[in-house]
Amino acid sequence: MDFIDVIKARTSVREYSEKQVEVEKITYLLECARLAPSYMNKQCWRFIVIKNKETIEQIAKTSVINRWLKTAPVLIIACADTTESGSNNSQEYYMTDVSIAFEHVILAATDVGLGTCWIGGFHEEKIKELLEVPKRIRIIALTPVGYPAGKKGITEQITKTLLKSNKRKTLDEIVHYEHW
Ligand SMILES: Cc1cc2nc3c(=O)[nH]c(=O)nc-3n(C[C@H](O)[C@H](O)[C@H](O)COP(=O)(O)O)c2cc1C
Repeated sequence: MDFIDVIKARTSVREYSEKQVEVEKITYLLECARLAPSYMNKQCWRFIVIKNKETIEQIAKTSVINRWLKTAPVLIIACADTTESGSNNSQEYYMTDVSIAFEHVILAATDVGLGTCWIGGFHEEKIKELLEVPKRIRIIALTPVGYPAGKKGITEQITKTLLKSNKRKTLDEIVHYEHW
């Protein structure tokens, strides 16, 4: 796909088919993350790939709004090693580093026909305990990865309507030229 077509095709997918995701595709997504830019090239990102259905169900249960995650065949957890990044202007760059890499994952997934959904609604401490994640590591986001279910179910329709998911601000609303 052309780059702009990937950008336009990406949408949050909240219902997945049972079709298994090819190992090569998961490796491709992770490779795309690996090549991302980062603060002083420190590459603080770490990823946990989960296919175990019970583990996915337990993670889904930690969030009231994201119970639907249990239909995902794969979950990728994006983590940061907070000791391997830096800060400036009171901004902790580990969040930026991991977010850039994770968006690579999400766009790469779109390009190979896979659905994803950036998830910020999760219980960090419960997931860290469940997956035995060391203390210095922060969980930044999760995404399900899988083939989208054939047609949009009720969860998806309601969520997209509530969030006005297909609406974006115009360039006029978000861009200033030369000064604010
Ligand atoms: C930081 C962040 C956190 C998000 N958290 C959730 C979440 O917990 N659950 C969810 O269903 N979607 C979540 N989303 C997805 C957004 O709701 C979605 O991107 C937005 O409504 C635009 O829709 P689209 O992705 O289909 O274009 C999150 C997105 C971002 C960037």
